[in-house]
Amino acid sequence: MAKKAAGAIIPPFDQLSGKVRVPLHRQVYQRLKNAILGGSLAPGVRLPSARTLAGDSDVSRNTVEIAFAELEAEGFVERRVGAGSFVAAAMPDFVGKPLHARTAKTSTNRVNHSLSERGRRIKAAAEIDPTATLAFAPCMPSLEAFPLQTWNRLTARRARLAGRDLLGNGDPAGYRPLREAVADYLSTARGVKCNWQQVVILSRTQQALNLSSRLLLDEGEQAWIEEPGYLGARAALQNAGACIIPVPVDEQGLNVERGIKLAPAARLAYITPSHQYPLGVTMSLTRRLALLAWAKSAGAWIFEDDYDSEFRYTNRPLAAVQGLDSAGRVIYAGTFNKVMFPSLRLAYIVVPPHLVDAFIAARALADGSAPTLAQIVMTDFIAEGHFSSHLRQMRALYHERRDILLDAVARELAGSLRVEAAADQKISTQAAARKFHIPPLSRYYLRNRRAQPGLILNYAGTPPKIIRRTVRTLATIFQT
Ligand SMILES: Cc1ncc(COP(=O)(O)O)c(C=O)c1O
Repeated sequence: MAKKAAGAIIPPFDQLSGKVRVPLHRQVYQRLKNAILGGSLAPGVRLPSARTLAGDSDVSRNTVEIAFAELEAEGFVERRVGAGSFVAAAMPDFVGKPLHARTAKTSTNRVNHSLSERGRRIKAAAEIDPTATLAFAPCMPSLEAFPLQTWNRLTARRARLAGRDLLGNGDPAGYRPLREAVADYLSTARGVKCNWQQVVILSRTQQALNLSSRLLLDEGEQAWIEEPGYLGARAALQNAGACIIPVPVDEQGLNVERGIKLAPAARLAYITPSHQYPLGVTMSLTRRLALLAWAKSAGAWIFEDDYDSEFRYTNRPLAAVQGLDSAGRVIYAGTFNKVMFPSLRLAYIVVPPHLVDAFIAARALADGSAPTLAQIVMTDFIAEGHFSSHLRQMRALYHERRDILLDAVARELAGSLRVEAAADQKISTQAAARKFHIPPLSRYYLRNRRAQPGLILNYAGTPPKIIRRTVRTLATIFQT
């Protein structure tokens, strides 16, 4: 039966069917989204509670909650602590008008109208950040400390020797000696259990996430992500049409028990166990084992993003979850773009043997293969010992920068460190105006009501003088 709430017509839920292949939460999601797109749920309108909607139909409250979370993730619904759920006020301007009324008035509108729904999601999710070169820019290593002369020398030597075979298409799985070197490195440094055939060279971790989401999940299937968590993982899964289940992170990492309560039949769990992004905690061994046990019994995949395990300063990192897996459920991903330099565009994925062919095929379709010369030079850089000595130097440098940052924060910001809820966004905006980039922690939460305020200071790529100066400026922002 249609339900009226604060002037809103909620689509009838009595025709939902457990018999069709589309999961119930996806059917609820689709009905609500159709109503929003069709205009019967106007921007700003308050939605009934999940409990009420579930009570009026034959679905559980959890089913409605999942649908709400998905709509929130895509920007169709806003959830406000203590006030309930609302149709987002800032819908694209054609939403709510019949198709024939969607005439483009401006060129911006025309561009929007030509995009698919997925296209609009991709456009909204891509973080093309104009402040990315500013102080504290995320994912930025120290470029001035990179041994550029060595890299140039290795590149020149290979370029001089290059034959025409270098000009053809590369192997979509990657240059074999690099795959072997990565397998060696991962088994020694990270406890990963694999042979070189399981390693596929990619351009970025983001590519590993995109390929995995598309290869392993069907539209509407559930995937756990960490809450708060990496926006790149969220975007890849959303773009593949997955239903995102945010699972809280505590001091032991992803709360596996909560995940199992929220979505026991999820198909994939995305984790950053070595160094949770953005909170920095390490996933405990108990949780790692619990996650593996769940994945085995549910037939689910674990996507292990080991994006910066190289940079532990106090103790050795725990070995990778992949090395503890006896059931072949883990997809392991790592990147050279952070430990070397971002424009290198070389990353890697380790997949269970029976998935190798599918990943190679998907990579070939996505963008062919990685540039051969860069792969060869990277292999030389590892084989001649430059990689391990670069890692050692960077570890010492970043450790020092972290101490400088902590010291500056303790001196300049002592007493100002309590950031009120929602204030982190404001401080972050004021900081961007002063040319430094400190994203608000609240942005990394999918559920607003869980969001903790905070500020993320990426110190690795920022020289000490600028760290100190920026923290002093931050103190003045706190005081205004
Ligand atoms: C959690 C996380 N994963 C992966 C990466 C690396 O991503 P990519 O190789 O796609 O640049 C980053 C960026 O620093 C990150 O923060």
